[in-house]
Amino acid sequence: MKIAFIGFGGVGQALVKLLRDRRQSLHDKYDMDTTVVAVSDVMKGSVYDPNGLDEDLLLETIAEHNHLDHYPDNGTAIKGWDSLKTIKDSNADMIIEVTFTNVQTGQPAIDHCKAAFENNKSVVTTNKGPVAIAYQELSKLAKEHGVYWGFEGTVMSGTPALRLPFTTLAGNEISEIKGILNGTTNFMLTEMEKGLSYQDALTLAQSKGYAEADPTSDVEGYDARYKAVILSNVVMDSPVRAEDVTCEGITSLTLEDLNNAIENNQRWRLVARMTREGESVKASVKPELLHKDDPLATISGATNAIVYECDLAGPIMLTGAGAGLIETGYSLLIDLIHYQKERVLMKQ
Ligand code: HSE
Repeated sequence: MKIAFIGFGGVGQALVKLLRDRRQSLHDKYDMDTTVVAVSDVMKGSVYDPNGLDEDLLLETIAEHNHLDHYPDNGTAIKGWDSLKTIKDSNADMIIEVTFTNVQTGQPAIDHCKAAFENNKSVVTTNKGPVAIAYQELSKLAKEHGVYWGFEGTVMSGTPALRLPFTTLAGNEISEIKGILNGTTNFMLTEMEKGLSYQDALTLAQSKGYAEADPTSDVEGYDARYKAVILSNVVMDSPVRAEDVTCEGITSLTLEDLNNAIENNQRWRLVARMTREGESVKASVKPELLHKDDPLATISGATNAIVYECDLAGPIMLTGAGAGLIETGYSLLIDLIHYQKERVLMKQ
């Protein structure tokens, strides 16, 4: 599997470490052998070597210089290709799209996915934009070109919020999905319950790396709204758009609101809720006042949780990390392993 990274922040680097450190077990268990051939990042520059880049040198170059111009010249490495050229002209068959999510347009990640599929290349991404804005179009394109599109990490990072209902709970009708899908705001609410101010709680969430590049996405509920759109489209098979989702963040909640709730055995939580209504799905993201014993009220810190109301299996709750470099890097690895399993099956 020849891999090109489009974007190379902490998540992409975490995946390179995983691929390096688990090389032997990935080979032994899944017959999976990977070579990173290219990295193209709008800030950190780019390097492409059709024979494969040295993973340690790549990570060291970024750690020391934060720019790929410093990757050692070896006679075959090419510098300066932009993302679209890397996608189209490199010999990679797998594109890892890990650029920042743009909540307004989903770009340039949508164009990256399109270019990959049109050039018969598979994509694995943690970028919510393409899945939330262009799911129908991109999944059709991937299918037409016979390539793979993985995006497990777009909802709850390495916690399998998409694959669990899709595979393990297959056969159930899911009438409702509700969850705490944004780690930053849940962390902030639980810190504020302990007495921290809104601003201090946000600064702490940013320092821990939970927040989006622009934290407005977290606190106004846009990040959770994207995840609600993804769950509605992918799991509930309903083409909900971001503008269809009622969205209210946590900015109007005060310390007093949170304390009053606690005094009444309640908790405020930012809940994303997707409810099937006939043929369609109604979705909202808003602060909800939950009884303290409600399973979602017991979720604290940056942890996420999701409840699937299944007609056969009953309510199933999944809880785990919703963010984090290793966890999100791992979500890319799960997709790569599934891609590899499909490739092996197709060869048989
Ligand atoms: N900012 C997001 C969160 C990161 O806090 O949940 C994961 O999507």
